Amino acid sequence: MIHTNKNINILAIESSCDDTSAAVLKNNVVLSNIIANQRVHEQYGGVVPELASRAHQLNIVPVVHMALQNAKISKTDLHAIAVTRGPGLLGSLLVGVTFAKSLSQSLQIPLIDVNHLDAHIWSLFLDLPDMIIPKPQFPFLALVVSGGHTKLVLVTDFLETQTIGETIDDAAGEAFDKAAKMLGLPYPGGPHIDKLSQNGNPKAYQFSKPQIAGYNFSFSGMKTSILYFLRDNLKVNESFIQQNIHDLCASIQHTIVSYLLEKTALAVREYQVKHVAVVGGVSANSYLKSYFKQWADENNVLVYFPEFQFTTDNAAMVGIVGFLKYLKGLTANEQIVPFTIDA
Ligand code: KG4
Ligand code: ZN
Repeated sequence: MIHTNKNINILAIESSCDDTSAAVLKNNVVLSNIIANQRVHEQYGGVVPELASRAHQLNIVPVVHMALQNAKISKTDLHAIAVTRGPGLLGSLLVGVTFAKSLSQSLQIPLIDVNHLDAHIWSLFLDLPDMIIPKPQFPFLALVVSGGHTKLVLVTDFLETQTIGETIDDAAGEAFDKAAKMLGLPYPGGPHIDKLSQNGNPKAYQFSKPQIAGYNFSFSGMKTSILYFLRDNLKVNESFIQQNIHDLCASIQHTIVSYLLEKTALAVREYQVKHVAVVGGVSANSYLKSYFKQWADENNVLVYFPEFQFTTDNAAMVGIVGFLKYLKGLTANEQIVPFTIDA
């Protein structure tokens, strides 16, 4: 890991979407990681931006307070505040960024801005007080799969990354969530599909995979093929979904996961890397983990996933980027504003 003789305490804040989270890190070790999930969106089948910002306003003070308390670190022992600057929802990001700016000014410590997608990648380098987690070696390929993004990134050193491919339409998590919605499952649908697939046959049904050359991804054709397939079968049997829910979930999951692996395997061959990582919310998927592990074993490649608690949005992953940037003196000025789309 990164060597420093000092102990750096960082408070990290994440509010880019619908989870308000705060964490305290001592170097790369997570002392606390508090996440307040916003249940308010479930009834709408997706995140409602205005409600998300309001919930962040309510949550931010108690969540930060609890993170400091659980870490047994006082505000005055902090060396810097790291905060997600983007990409994400503007109103949600503003809550975290404004709070972090004010606190860093009142404590007179540096503010560090963090890209949410970088944070997913560097979540691989977190440790717990009683657990050192195996880490990939440079150079490695990172497949970033979340609700809003799907990217293949070549990681050559700490904070040194190069995007080699990304989605041209929906993200992988979005594909899970939209398919789940068609099946009548609650939002977010990814974890429901994961669970229901466990008793299903992944080869029961075939859905089309897009034929896009290179490392870019597309999920919209797959979505349409699932939609038409369900519509045609429901015409004949209105209980088609209920009767086949396990096979449907397993087949949809297989289509998405095998497509992600095809692109990753292609990049592994071209870039000649021996270490691969999958990060972001979708990396929590149990089928994805076993499918990638099996491929890795057969191809003499090592595959890494973040600890389960660091896969979906959390502030600990923001804190590790804060730590890495702090060591390089990469602090932000007080004029920074959030950005909503990854540049
Ligand atoms: O990284 P994340 O928490 O938030 C964003 O940055 O978007 O990712 C959330 C996404 C959602 O689309 C959710 O359905 C998906 O991750 N997800 C899963 C699983 N757990 C979360 N997808 C498939 N299987 C899972 N077990
Ligand atoms: Zn995320």
